[in-house]
Amino acid sequence: MKLKSFLGLALLAATSAFANTPVYLDATKPIEERVEDALARMTTEEKVAIIHAQSKFSSPGVPRLGIPENWMTDGPHGIRQEVLWDEWQGAGWTSDSCTAFPALTALAASWNPEMSALYGKSIGEEARYRNKNVLLGPGCNIYRTPLNGRNFEYMGEDPYLASRMVVPYIQEVQKVGVAACVKHFALNNQEINRGVINVIVDDRALREIYLPAFEAAVKEGGAWAIMGAYNKYKGQHCCHNQYLLNDILKKEWGFDGVVVSDWGGVHDTKEAITNGLDMEFGSWTDGMRFGASNAYDKYYLAQPYLQLIKEGKVGTKELDDKVRRVLRLTFRTTMNPNRPYGSFATEEHAMAARTIAQEGIVMLKNDNNFFPIDTKRVKRILVVGENAEHRMTIGGGSSSLKVKYELSPLKGILARAKEAGVEVVYKTGYASPAVAEQDVKGAVAPEKIFDLDQLRAEAVEAAKDADLVIFIGGLNKNDGQDCEGNDRKDMSLPYGQDRVIEEIAAVNKNLAVVIISGNAVAMPWVDKVPTIFEAWYNGTEAGSALASILFGDVNPSGKLPFTFPVKLDDVAAHKLGEHPGDGVNVRYNESIFVGYRYADKEKIRPLFPFGHGLSYTTFEYGKPTIDSKTMTADGKVTVSVDVKNTGSRTGKEVVQLYVADKKASLARPVKELKGFDKVELAPGETKTVTFTIDKKALSFYDDKRQEWIAEPGKFEAIIGASATDIKGKVAFELK
Ligand code: BGC
Repeated sequence: MKLKSFLGLALLAATSAFANTPVYLDATKPIEERVEDALARMTTEEKVAIIHAQSKFSSPGVPRLGIPENWMTDGPHGIRQEVLWDEWQGAGWTSDSCTAFPALTALAASWNPEMSALYGKSIGEEARYRNKNVLLGPGCNIYRTPLNGRNFEYMGEDPYLASRMVVPYIQEVQKVGVAACVKHFALNNQEINRGVINVIVDDRALREIYLPAFEAAVKEGGAWAIMGAYNKYKGQHCCHNQYLLNDILKKEWGFDGVVVSDWGGVHDTKEAITNGLDMEFGSWTDGMRFGASNAYDKYYLAQPYLQLIKEGKVGTKELDDKVRRVLRLTFRTTMNPNRPYGSFATEEHAMAARTIAQEGIVMLKNDNNFFPIDTKRVKRILVVGENAEHRMTIGGGSSSLKVKYELSPLKGILARAKEAGVEVVYKTGYASPAVAEQDVKGAVAPEKIFDLDQLRAEAVEAAKDADLVIFIGGLNKNDGQDCEGNDRKDMSLPYGQDRVIEEIAAVNKNLAVVIISGNAVAMPWVDKVPTIFEAWYNGTEAGSALASILFGDVNPSGKLPFTFPVKLDDVAAHKLGEHPGDGVNVRYNESIFVGYRYADKEKIRPLFPFGHGLSYTTFEYGKPTIDSKTMTADGKVTVSVDVKNTGSRTGKEVVQLYVADKKASLARPVKELKGFDKVELAPGETKTVTFTIDKKALSFYDDKRQEWIAEPGKFEAIIGASATDIKGKVAFELK
C-alpha cells in the first residue's frame, strides 16, 4: 500500500474510533452531558453501589464502564495514613508519611486569605499525589464554647472570618482536581453526645452565625462535597435532614455536589433516600466499634435501598439525583484528564506549613517589650513543659497524622539558640498520660506514672539560675482535651500546669508562657507572666516557626480567631444557653450572641479579645474617613484608614472593620466584623486600608419574614486592631 493511502486509512480508523467514544468518556464534552450519558448506561444495582462505601474510605466506581472508585481522606490538616480495608488501623505502608499543616485555628489566626490559598494548594497536591479525590475538610463549624473538643479543626467564632478563610482553601484544593468536603454541616458545636444530641437554635442564630461559612464554602468556594454532621437539628439527623440538605443547601444555595455522610452518621434508609444524603460512609462496621465487619451491603443506602426499589416501594428519582452528583464528582476529579499529578511531603509543602504557622502564632502579651529574646543578654534559657516535646500531629481523633517529621518546639528552640550561642536546658515540669495510652479508656493518671511533685520541683530549681524561662504547655489532643469524641470538662490547664507556672514565676520573673492548644484556656497567673503566646498545633514545622517568632526572625502577626474568656461563666453558651444539654436536646438560648457579640453586649472584659494579637513593632492608626455619609440600598460606601508602622521593625497588622447598627427593630450585636485586611509595613511606612460596605454588611436575618433585611437608619463603621482596641469610627446612614 502506498504511504499516502495507508495514512488516509489510519486517519479514518482513528476518527471513527473517536466518533465511537462514549460521551461520558469524552472529556471535551460538558460535564452534564457526560453525567447523563453515564447515568443512562448504568443498571440500578450499579447506581446503588456507587452511593455507599465499599471500605473504610472508598466507594466503588462502575468497573464495567471504566468509572473509577472514589477515595476519601482525612483531612483537614494533612493526608491521613492508609488504613486497612475495613479497619481504622494503619495499613503499614512506608510511603504515606505526610506533611502536617497547622490546625485550622492556626490558619484562621493568620487572618490572611493568602495563607488559606497556600494551605489549600499544598494539601490538595498531597491528596492528589496519594490518589485521593475527596479531602475530608476543611471544617468551619463555629466556636460556640471553649470546651468543644474539635474547635482546633475549625476556624473560630466569627462567621465572616470563617467565610473569608474557608473559600480560598476550597478553591485551591479543587484546582488540583481534588474535591474539598466541607464539614460538619451543620450545628456540630460539641462532641459530647454528638451522635444523638438535637440542637435547638433560633433561625437568626442559624442564619447569622452557624450557616454563613458553609454558604460561602458552597456559593463562593464552589465546594464539590459537603459532609453532614452527626448531631440532629429539628429532631432529624443532619446527615439526612430535609431542612438543611434539601431546602437550604440544595434548593436555596444551589449546591450541585455530593452530600457525604459523616462516618456512621446515617440512621435510616427512608430518610437517607429522601432527605438529601448522597453517599453513605462508616455505618455499622467494626471500625465504628459496633455491628459486623464488611457490612457494606447492609448499609442503609445499599441492599435495603435496592430492596425497596425492587418491591416498588420507592422510585428511582432520588437515586438518579444521587448518582448524578456522584458522577459529577468523578468527572470533576478522577475522570478529568487535565488535572495535575500533585506532590507529596516535599520541602515546598513543609515551608508552606511553616509560613502559615508563622503567620498564625499570636503574641497575647508582651510587657515592656520583654520579647523577642535578646541574645546579647540571654545566655541560658530554661525550657519547661511537656508540650515542648509532645507530638501534636498524633491524637485528636480523625485528624491524627502519620508525618514525615514533626519538629518540636524544643528542637526548634535548640537549633535557633545554638546559632546564637545560647545554652538551652530542658525540664518537663509536668507530665500527661503516655501518648500510647490516650485511646485506652481509663488511661493511667499521670500522677501514677510520674512523681509530679518531683518534676515540678526540678523545673522550679532549674528556673532559679536561668536568664529566661520559656514554659511550653497547653492542651495536647488527649481524650477530653482538644480531641474528637469528647469535650473538655473545664477551661483550666490540665496536669497541674498552673502550679508549675506560678511556682516558676515566684522564683524567676523572666518567664514567658507558650500555650499550644486549639482552644482558649484559663490563665489565673496572667498578671505574673510578662509574655504569653498562643502557638496552636502547628504541624511539621511547629518548632522552627515558634523559634523564629521567639527570637524575632519573624515578627508575630497572628490575631485571635476567638475570644479568650476569663472564665466559663463569661461564655454565653454556658451562661445563657446550654452545654452539653440534657442528653436529648441542647438549647442555644444565647442565640446570635456568640463570642465577642456576647462580651460586647454584657460589657464583659475578656482575658484576650477576639482579633487581638501583638507585634514587635507598633502601629498608629489615622482617623477613618468615609466617601459618603449616606448609602442607598443598592449602593455602597468606602471607608479608609491610614496605618503607619511607628516602630523599628517590619511588621504586619490586621486592620479590622466592624459595623454597628445603631437602631434596629430586632436585637443586634453591638458590632460585627465585616472586613479585615492584613498589611505589611516597613518601619515608618504608611498604607491606606480601604473597605467597601454594601447592603449585605448591614443586613440581619429577619426570622419572621425569613429573609435578610437591611433597615434604613444610622450605622457606624468601626476600625479596630481587635474587638476591643477601637481606633476610630465613622457614622453613615442607609437611606
Ligand atoms: C469525623 C469526620 C471524619 C470521619 C472519617 C468522623 O468520625 O467526624 O470528621 O472525616 O470520621 O475519619
